[in-house]
Amino acid sequence: MQRKGIILAGGTGTRLYPSSISVSKQLMPVFDKPMIYYPLSTFMDCNIRDILIITTPHDQPAFQTLLRDGSQWGMNIAYAVQPEPEGIAQALIIAEEFLDGAPSALILGDNLFFGDAVVNAAKKADCMATGATIFAYYVNDPQRYGVVEFDEDGQVISLVEKPENPPSNYAVTGLYFYDGRAPEFAKSLTPSKRGELEITALNQAYLDKNELAVELFHSGTTWLDTGTHRSLFQAAQFVSVLEERQGRRICCPEEIAYRKGWIDRAQLDAEISRLGEGGYAQYLKTLK
Ligand code: TTP
Repeated sequence: MQRKGIILAGGTGTRLYPSSISVSKQLMPVFDKPMIYYPLSTFMDCNIRDILIITTPHDQPAFQTLLRDGSQWGMNIAYAVQPEPEGIAQALIIAEEFLDGAPSALILGDNLFFGDAVVNAAKKADCMATGATIFAYYVNDPQRYGVVEFDEDGQVISLVEKPENPPSNYAVTGLYFYDGRAPEFAKSLTPSKRGELEITALNQAYLDKNELAVELFHSGTTWLDTGTHRSLFQAAQFVSVLEERQGRRICCPEEIAYRKGWIDRAQLDAEISRLGEGGYAQYLKTLK
């Protein structure tokens, strides 16, 4: 069965406006494009074309206006709501019907990945009939994340959520690959002290069954999240530096769809006309 994708773009994290205005941060730009384009591009790079976007009820219409049904990019995009931010693992329960038994990939709407390692890891995960694959990345502030604990032989022995004294510097990133059992496992979790269905608990359930692969991203891979104002600013800087240096843009869904042959030139041109005259449209016009 083809792997399906879930982007969780719900209601916690950095809020730049009071809730009465309530602009989802995943709709705001990271440099030159909406934040949600980055995780969406990661899925496209991994050839995941069937995607569920989970948002707050309030934000859903704006996401639908931006991303539509996905056909403009040769994809299928569906929508669901998470009324309250009751935990990342709840995404698998909300997505159960959409997944319909298929293996899944879950990505957080505010995570930005860059580098070939993600695509290679996705290929590897696709070769596994059962189990889950998560990714760990060396960071200097692991206490903000789920952290991987290794034994002396480098085997993973546990996952610890936001530890005061982290057992390693390896943080679990916001990209997770699961087999078809994930919704069932998520339903058997009990909420943590902070009232959330913790993704760390779901991953630990796979680890307890000896069915969790933890892949380490090397330092040539970029993983940024935009969970703080500083990291949001840094993500924009990263995109700006890279794009100006190379003269090419990264993570444009239109470009990826065109290069993969999911849309033809006429469809690309139709998208360019919708975008008007800005720099983003100008860039798309230059694509050969
Ligand atoms: P965070 O709130 O950063 O998730 P967290 O539980 O790891 O951290 P913290 O204790 O700092 O709150 O959210 C990460 C992303 O996932 C963000 O884009 C919002 C989204 N999210 C939801 O959509 N629903 C949820 O229930 C949660 C917990 C997160």
